[in-house]
Amino acid sequence: MRKKIIAANWKMNTTLEEAKNLLESLKNVVVPEGAEVILNVPFIHLYPLKSMVDSMSGFSLGAQHCSEYESGAYTGEISVNMLKEYVKYVIVGHSERRDLFDEDNEEVKAKVDVILKAGLTPIFCCGESRMLRETEEHLGFIQHQLAESLFHLTSDDIQKVIIAYEPIWAIGTGLTATKDEAQEMHAFIRTEIEHHYTLEIANSISILYGGSCNGSNSVELFAQADIDGGLVGGASLKGAEFGRMVMGVES
Ligand code: 13P
Repeated sequence: MRKKIIAANWKMNTTLEEAKNLLESLKNVVVPEGAEVILNVPFIHLYPLKSMVDSMSGFSLGAQHCSEYESGAYTGEISVNMLKEYVKYVIVGHSERRDLFDEDNEEVKAKVDVILKAGLTPIFCCGESRMLRETEEHLGFIQHQLAESLFHLTSDDIQKVIIAYEPIWAIGTGLTATKDEAQEMHAFIRTEIEHHYTLEIANSISILYGGSCNGSNSVELFAQADIDGGLVGGASLKGAEFGRMVMGVES
């Protein structure tokens, strides 16, 4: 059975005080058995939040980004070796990093490799633009993203990856993929994994949906056969709503 995962991506939001208050509001959330909540918080909040997150059953910390290098003269960057004291997970290939910071498939691949080498779990994001969906090139585009950044991995390593499908046109827009659009893509991703590896491996990998996922649509989305939870942006900043999304996930 694949684990249900609800991951929060706080992005560049929250002062330390706001972050502590948000975490406090999640303290009484009961994570369904077999499910996991991953809070991908700003780097600077990892240390101050760690002891409280460690005391919350079913919760873990993640990072939103890392350097592709292990150490050296890269001013302002953070390495996986620094992160591994605090997190088990690192988001990689988010469309905001791809679009705003020019990360391409090759760089994403290098980051996947350093994350795995450090013993951490990549949350690998893929997703197409509105234009690619309108011209019906979305499946081919995702196929390419997976092939260029993930499918070099060994059978052992691919099973350590969490995949998040986040259509760019749905991120922060209030437009969500319908349950059928999301399920179709998730099933496609799983079939691609099967083609490169095995059915058993494909069935073992958690594939999350992200893009305007909220308290009103999460139950329906997460109930789809190939959707194993979500990567949640805006709604994860609202403690009560995010808590309801977590408690509503069936494991
Ligand atoms: P929203 O939930 O705000 O659309 O953001 C999704 C996202 O980018 C999560 O990584």
